[in-house]
Amino acid sequence: MTEGGFDPASLVQSWPKPSAPRPIVTFGAGSIVGDAHFPAYRKAGFPVAGLYDPDHARATRLADQWGVTAFRSVAEAAAVDSAIFDLATPPSHHADVLKALPDGAVALIQKPMGGDLAEASAILGICRAKRLQAAVNFQLRFAPMMLALKDAIAKGWLGEIVDFDAWLALATPWQLWEFLLKAPRVEIAMHSIHYLDLIRQLLGDPRGVHAKTLGHPNHAVAQTRTSAILDYGDTVRCALSINHDHKFGRRHQACEFRICGTEGAAYLKLGLNLDYPRGEPDVLEIHPKGGTDWVAVPLAGEWFPDAFVGRMANVQRFATGEEATLISSVEDAWSTMALVEAAYQSSAAPATPIAERP
Ligand SMILES: NC(=O)c1ccc[n+]([C@@H]2O[C@H](COP(=O)([O-])OP(=O)(O)OC[C@H]3O[C@@H](n4cnc5c(N)ncnc54)[C@H](O)[C@@H]3O)[C@@H](O)[C@H]2O)c1
Repeated sequence: MTEGGFDPASLVQSWPKPSAPRPIVTFGAGSIVGDAHFPAYRKAGFPVAGLYDPDHARATRLADQWGVTAFRSVAEAAAVDSAIFDLATPPSHHADVLKALPDGAVALIQKPMGGDLAEASAILGICRAKRLQAAVNFQLRFAPMMLALKDAIAKGWLGEIVDFDAWLALATPWQLWEFLLKAPRVEIAMHSIHYLDLIRQLLGDPRGVHAKTLGHPNHAVAQTRTSAILDYGDTVRCALSINHDHKFGRRHQACEFRICGTEGAAYLKLGLNLDYPRGEPDVLEIHPKGGTDWVAVPLAGEWFPDAFVGRMANVQRFATGEEATLISSVEDAWSTMALVEAAYQSSAAPATPIAERP
């Protein structure tokens, strides 16, 4: 207990666990499953029935490593009774997997919800038609640092939020994702989408967006650098400055959020991206209302894998009726996809021209 009565240890950092978790069936045996999904589920004690990947050798390798079944077909995987279907598939494959699930099934879909807004709308249509209880895996919302930040905001330690700045200057190993190297949309659609989604949860939907997203002459990835301004009217400023090509050593790299309220502020370091997927520790510091200095919040876990625990816990609890709200349901996630779409449209449109000297 220090600054102005602020007790950093009192902030909530984890999601309540389901009392009777259902078996999880994962689609896709790619890097994110071994890096985050399965480590999170083991840590939380969530049962994994098995996984399916059309690359059966890959599926078997991962299944053996984690002691689960490698299903031989989509139909076999989709037939597991009362399962939570966990899609860790590339965005263009989500729709086909969803179509194969039983009507009324519960599904968690990796972000993004399709490659663009048209695919997101198709996914939403499938979920509605099949009455799927489906959410998108925007798990940054559940990272311990973000749960603590939202709790601090809810308890009034920052006052009214008036400023959100995301600043990234780092070197992201895009070569880890083969499917991304030729994708037409990369930086905003695959990476900054996490920040846009979190910002929507904190500040609501912006009125619009100004954005410019571009690649880099040293490689062929479609976009790796973005500047964006989200329009929240005349009180809230919100900006993202993202450079994944800052390959000049660790010293001046950064992956930070600065969030200011009328009475306090928060600083976050998202350590994961500074050495992906191993990561450095996350950091959350708060300058609380009534305080005179920054206070470090001791964090109970990291983005990977702990955010995946909370994400799945909410889906599980919603499925059994222990919780009324499905966070980042496909209905809500569609709006994050619409914001991404608007950012690409803005980037393709000319900026305000500057007058020429008469
Ligand atoms: N922080 C995050 O939230 C985060 C990080 C990385 C990746 N992702 C997302 O996770 C998904 C997978 O990423 P990854 O890094 O594991 O990719 P990856 O390329 O390593 O693996 C994708 C796997 O999906 C399999 N697959 C393709 N179609 C399938 C189908 N119909 N059914 C089952 N499996 C199928 C492929 O054979 C491949 O093994 C992507 O949507 C990506 O955007 C999220």
